[in-house]
Amino acid sequence: MTKVRVAIAGVGSCASSIVQFVEMAKEKMDTPSGVMHEVIGGYQLSDVEFVAAFEVDQNKVGKDLSEAILTKPTAAIKHIEVPFFQVSVEAGPLCDGLEGDLSNCIQPHEDSLKINTHDVTQRLKDVQADVLVCFLPTGSFEAVRVYAEACAHAHTAFINATPEPVANDPEFVKMFEDSGTPLLGDDLRSHLGATTLHTALIELLKSRGIDITNTYQLNVGGNTDFLNLANPMRSTSKQKSKRKALFASGIDASEVAAGPNGYVSYLGDHKVCFLRLEGNSVLDSEISLEIRLQVEDSPNSAGVIANAMRVAKAAKDLNHSGVIHDVCPFLFKSPPIGQVDSESLRLFNDYVANAELKKVL
Ligand SMILES: NC(=O)c1ccc[n+]([C@@H]2O[C@H](COP(=O)([O-])OP(=O)(O)OC[C@H]3O[C@@H](n4cnc5c(N)ncnc54)[C@H](O)[C@@H]3O)[C@@H](O)[C@H]2O)c1
Repeated sequence: MTKVRVAIAGVGSCASSIVQFVEMAKEKMDTPSGVMHEVIGGYQLSDVEFVAAFEVDQNKVGKDLSEAILTKPTAAIKHIEVPFFQVSVEAGPLCDGLEGDLSNCIQPHEDSLKINTHDVTQRLKDVQADVLVCFLPTGSFEAVRVYAEACAHAHTAFINATPEPVANDPEFVKMFEDSGTPLLGDDLRSHLGATTLHTALIELLKSRGIDITNTYQLNVGGNTDFLNLANPMRSTSKQKSKRKALFASGIDASEVAAGPNGYVSYLGDHKVCFLRLEGNSVLDSEISLEIRLQVEDSPNSAGVIANAMRVAKAAKDLNHSGVIHDVCPFLFKSPPIGQVDSESLRLFNDYVANAELKKVL
């Protein structure tokens, strides 16, 4: 097949941005900004086709994907017109997807209470989905596992954008290895977000022998991801995941504040990060730096998903199964085996180059 057939679970802000990004790639003659690799495993971004979408929001289920990606409370900004896709958003299994503050602004569709793992598996088989991207709210521990299990059974590669453990769960790793299916996770990095900036700066300071004594990374935003994360019951996995990325960069992050730190509704899909690093340099001289990073949150995730969908399909073509360790540290905050930034980029680019080579041979 010359296409990457993609299913989405959770048609919120991240889904909106990646759908718009793929559409932009189809319309533009030249490569859109933010695309790192024009071709991965023989696939351009414009080769992605969305073939199914699962949701629980009663205002989105039943709508065409083109309409659902702009339905509130989704905060993603409309950057381009998308055509009618003829992909109707269907009910997925609710489980714990809307616990916490999301239950105040999203009403579940009645069918979402009846759908089970078997139904999702069957649907993925029917549409011959190569890849499923899981964009569920953080804290949806049970629901994420239902989609992951369905993917392993349907031989659909699973991309876990959430921090809920799947690539970090040995039971799931084995399930994907046994079924010969690629597994990518956990917790998507942003294209140029707080974690990537933080870990890159830590690597820079450490490469100069600077001893990092204190650091923090405070994040606020106004989309439903931040609304959900404002509830401590839902944000535990995100806190762990961010700390894990900092540990992998070579510091003891056990006491580091690196959070989601608040919901500020007027920011909408904009996220603001306040980052500080302090350290001791030559002769124990003090050094400190402070950065304020502001990004549009959801397009920032789409840059990484644009890579992940095509890498997952390339891995499937190459019969690679289980966690694809060479690409996960670059794409995710909490891969099973973390790496410093420069090494994760090298491993990722090597995997892409090898996939290209094997395609040609
Ligand atoms: N830059 C980023 O935005 C970024 C970066 C890294 C990771 N992530 C993670 O990606 C995930 C998605 O983020 P988002 O901003 O798109 O969130 P969102 O709140 O905009 O979208 C989540 C969607 O999932 C739906 N949903 C809830 N339960 C469901 C279920 N059981 N089945 C199907 N759909 C269900 C909700 O109705 C909502 O539409 C979050 O876990 C977030 O932490 C986002």
